[in-house]
Amino acid sequence: MTARLIKGAPIRDAILENARSEAKRLTERTGIVPGLVVVIVGDDPASKVYVNMKKKTCLELGWYSELVEMPATATQDQVADEIERLNRDERVHGILLQSPLPKGLDEFALIQRIDPLKDVDGFHPVNMGKLAIGIPGFVPCTPKGVVEMLVRSDIEIRGKRVVVAGRSHLVGTPLALLLSRKSPQGDATVTLVHSRTQDMPAVCREGDILIAAIGRTETITADYVKPGAVVVDVGTNKVDDPTRPKGYRLTGDVHFESVSEVASAITPSPGGVGPMTIAMLMSNTLEAAKRCAGLIE
Ligand SMILES: NC(=O)c1ccc[n+]([C@@H]2O[C@H](COP(=O)([O-])OP(=O)(O)OC[C@H]3O[C@@H](n4cnc5c(N)ncnc54)[C@H](OP(=O)(O)O)[C@@H]3O)[C@@H](O)[C@H]2O)c1
Repeated sequence: MTARLIKGAPIRDAILENARSEAKRLTERTGIVPGLVVVIVGDDPASKVYVNMKKKTCLELGWYSELVEMPATATQDQVADEIERLNRDERVHGILLQSPLPKGLDEFALIQRIDPLKDVDGFHPVNMGKLAIGIPGFVPCTPKGVVEMLVRSDIEIRGKRVVVAGRSHLVGTPLALLLSRKSPQGDATVTLVHSRTQDMPAVCREGDILIAAIGRTETITADYVKPGAVVVDVGTNKVDDPTRPKGYRLTGDVHFESVSEVASAITPSPGGVGPMTIAMLMSNTLEAAKRCAGLIE
């Protein structure tokens, strides 16, 4: 079997196009233009690339966007004060604190300073709690992107056995919550596996859908996959490669060549889930603007 390839870029483009027209209607109706601010502390080069991409996407949509750059020497109080300022700024509907933060800053404490109604990353405990209970709130972008990708690729989730590999608060845990909750995009029977799981290949082979988010290069080989399963690779790992101009290449958690012979559908990495994350960030920002206008719960 050669698996159907599910790429992220066309789905991202369709979502962004839809967000653009929805935002236009929102502005015509209420005067509100969605606004997203990214706060970056320090000079991590990879983070700079990510935040510039987020700002650029916002500007391409015609939305308000600001990049707040703070030095690596910024204190906990200084970052918290900046977040408070953005909480009060009516032009700003979404606030994102770019990770990782320099050593010495308490990321979790700072996330808790973000107004939960502006927490478009969905990491505030209020939004995580809402996700666990199954009430409206912001859902973290990467897990939301995975579900959106499955739905838009006509992959049935309801009633299926889904195995999620990895239990981080960023990806695996919210994904397991989303897929198992009672909803049209959930209703799956979910198993969450992690580094302490015994006989991981056997457990993974139970999945009609297998989602890899472990951060370990090409670990998921064909023997982890039930024939005909759908495989989603969230992993984005840097591997040294002197033949590349940058000296490294990116790989997923899934061994693409062997798994694509067994699976019925597969997302590549890079080029699969990655583009979905930014699309979901824009979708959450639009949601925040609509909530601010009182148009949604
Ligand atoms: N937009 C995107 O495409 C996007 C966004 C976010 C993350 N990612 C990528 O997704 C991957 C996971 O990210 P993360 O932030 O969730 O990573 P993380 O915080 O390091 O969590 C990794 C999880 O995988 C588990 N794990 C590690 N090695 C394992 C193994 N050999 N077998 C089974 N489970 C194992 C860990 O188990 P324990 O809990 O037992 O330690 C942990 O739960 C990374 O490659 C990351 O770069 C991509």
